[in-house]
Order: sequence, then C-alpha cells, then structure tokens
Amino acid sequence: MNEKKRIAILGSTGSIGTQALEVIEEQNHLYEAYVLTANNSVDKLIAQARKYQPATVVIANESHYDTVRNALADLPIKVYAGADALCQVVQDENVDIVLASMVGFAGLRPTISAIQAGKMIALANKETLVVAGELIGRLAAEYKVPIIPVDSEHSAIFQCLEPGNKIEKILLTCSGGPFRKFSDEELQHVTKDHALAHPTWNMGAKITIDSATLMNKGFEVIEAKWLFGVRPEQIQVVVHPQSVIHSMVQFEDGAVKAQLGVPDMRLPIQYAFSYPHRLKASFDRVDFFKMKDLTFEQPDTRRFPCLQLAYEALGRGGNMPCIVNAANEIANRAFIDDRISFHRISEIIEQAMAHIDFSTDSSLDTYLLTDKATRHYAQTLI
Ligand SMILES: NC(=O)c1ccc[n+]([C@@H]2O[C@H](COP(=O)([O-])OP(=O)(O)OC[C@H]3O[C@@H](n4cnc5c(N)ncnc54)[C@H](OP(=O)(O)O)[C@@H]3O)[C@@H](O)[C@H]2O)c1
Repeated sequence: MNEKKRIAILGSTGSIGTQALEVIEEQNHLYEAYVLTANNSVDKLIAQARKYQPATVVIANESHYDTVRNALADLPIKVYAGADALCQVVQDENVDIVLASMVGFAGLRPTISAIQAGKMIALANKETLVVAGELIGRLAAEYKVPIIPVDSEHSAIFQCLEPGNKIEKILLTCSGGPFRKFSDEELQHVTKDHALAHPTWNMGAKITIDSATLMNKGFEVIEAKWLFGVRPEQIQVVVHPQSVIHSMVQFEDGAVKAQLGVPDMRLPIQYAFSYPHRLKASFDRVDFFKMKDLTFEQPDTRRFPCLQLAYEALGRGGNMPCIVNAANEIANRAFIDDRISFHRISEIIEQAMAHIDFSTDSSLDTYLLTDKATRHYAQTLI
C-alpha cells in the first residue's frame, strides 16, 4: 500500500468503533480515521476528534450539534448533524473504507449509501444484513463493492474459505452467553446486570443482551446465509463456551477448517481493513498449553427460543427478519430499562411475527415501513 487508506467509522464511540481506532493508531502508517460519528456520546466524540483529527465528524442526534461544533471550532474539522449527514459523509470521494459499526437498524441507510458510492465495506453492523440481506447483496454486486465481515464468527468463516471449493456446512460457534447453564426457574429472575456480564466478550449493551437471549446467534445465522450464500440447514450453531474457535467451515470432502484466536475484536477489524493481507499486530496470542478444555454442545432452543425464531424468519424470508429485528430492538431496550422480564423478549418477537403484515418485497421502502410498524406494535406490548 503506497498511501494511507482513509476510513470512515460509523459509530466511532462504540465498542467496535473505539477498538477500530486502536487498530488505526497501531497501524497509523497505513490507515487514517477520516470520518468519526456518534449519536449521543458528545464528550467521547469530541475527545476522539481532538485526538485523531479526522476531516469530518457527524453527531446523529441533531440536538448536540452546537456543542460539538463549538468544542471543535479551533480545528479544521467539518461538523455535521443528523441521520442524513451519515449517508452523505460516507460518500466523500476521499473515503476508502467504511466501517459500518453503528448499532441497530439505524446502520442500514448509511451502509446502503456507502455501497452506492462504491466504498469498500467493513461490516460489523449485523442488523443491516438481518433486515436487508437480499437488497445488500444485490447492491454490492451492482456496485462491485466488497463486503468484508467484521463479526468474529463471520471473519473466521471468511478466513477459512477456499476459492472454488464448496462449503458443505458452516459451524457457527457460540459462547452460550451468561445463562448457558441456567434452569427455567433461574431464567425467570435474571436481570440486565446478570445479562450484561458476558463471560468471554466485552461488547456494547445491545449485543450483550442479544448474546444472552441467543438472538445474536440467530442474527449471525441470517448474516452467514447472506455473506456466504448457503442454505439455513447448512448453518449449524455449536455452543463453544471458551470462544477460542471463532467458527469453522466443513468442505465437501469432510475436511473442517477453523480459525482460532483470543477473543479480541481488534483482529477481525484489522483483517477487514488489511484484507487480503495480514499485518503484524500486538494482540495477545493463543497459549495452547494454558488451555484446559475446548468443549462443544448443542444449543438449547427451548430455553433460548430467539435462536429458533431467527431460523424461522430466515425460512420465511421477505420482511420477516426485519420484523424480528425491530421487535427485538424494542424488547431488548425495554429489558435494559427494567420494563420487561427476560422471557418477554422472545414472546414479544413471536407476537410481532404473527401480527405484522408479511411481504416478500425486498425494497428499502418495505423495510422502512416494516420497521416502523413493528416498533410501534412492539411498544404496545410493553
Ligand atoms: N461489540 C462487539 O464486540 C461486536 C462484535 C460483533 C458485531 N458487533 C456489531 O457491531 C455493531 C456495533 O456494536 P457495538 O457493540 O460497538 O455497539 P455500541 O458499543 O453500543 O456502539 C454503537 C455505536 O453506534 C452509535 N449509534 C447508536 N445508535 C445510533 C443512531 N441511531 N444513529 C447513529 N449512531 C448511533 C453509538 O453512538 P453513541 O455512543 O453516541 O450512542 C455508538 O457509536 C452492532 O451491530 C453489533 O451487533 C459488535
């Protein structure tokens, strides 16, 4: 690489966004943080802007615009606000890579906008593929844009692929979350504080709750279908509590390839930036002699029905995964706010799947309407 790649980080104040900045700092001869964005974390965004001196920052929540603009007035940094600004800044001709690391449905429109501008996408925002996998695949092909997965499991699968050799099965590993061993009775009483204490990964609040319900794994099944072009029955979830094997690919001759590493998202983030090359990095290495056991279990979809609901949504197709995603966003938030119990999350999603109009249309308009209607309906259940 002759000159630095300029990276737009959507959601730079989040867990993935801050780790991406660490990667950029370590590899600052290769990469530059060109656009930084946040929703409400004003102080963090300002501090990041002062440290990394991007060309542009966007604060999605417009009410914070003056605060951010005034705080950066002494620097040559453009400051914008609002959701539309996110869609515009990713199209800047100087941006080489867009790291889609916002959380939730809000990440969909800016990701589409980046694809339409021909930008390479490093995709962490799994909700984008859950909601609109077919549309994203179509657009990526039309605009000849590579979509490189950042999610650790999908990065692992991506690293195992062999051009020309067909995948027989994807073995998608799953830590099992903090409630893997909880009984039905114990699950009745879990709170957000229990759920937020993930055993192996340190992540944002929404994905941590999704990991506790296994909805995160369900979303990853949908994500895998669209990224790797496999049928749902070719994707097997394997509970592997140590999170050392980040996923595996089984080929048609029965050979299985796995990618291993310590649980550290900086590796898949860096690989998405440097693909197809690997860069020397300071991350911890796996110490096989300290490893006691590597264990594997079937997921329990009776205690964790969200995983099954995701498979069902994938099987039905159309806007059903969009319905699941929107209902989950509302239920997940309500659980974090102590307004519903853990069990209600899957019930609300199931009710939304039964209630909201099904459509096979895969246009952005349909997804926007479905998302709005489902959020409204799910709120009435809380
Ligand atoms: N964390 C992980 O290890 C991990 C692993 C694999 C995949 N992912 C995926 O990566 C994405 C980000 O996860 P995360 O854990 O980094 O989340 P997070 O820590 O909650 O960060 C989310 C980021 O998105 C911004 N944001 C939230 N809502 C927004 C909105 N409506 N408009 C604009 N920006 C908004 C946040 O800004 P504020 O700070 O201002 O709220 C923050 O910068 C998710 O889709 C997740 O599933 C995460």
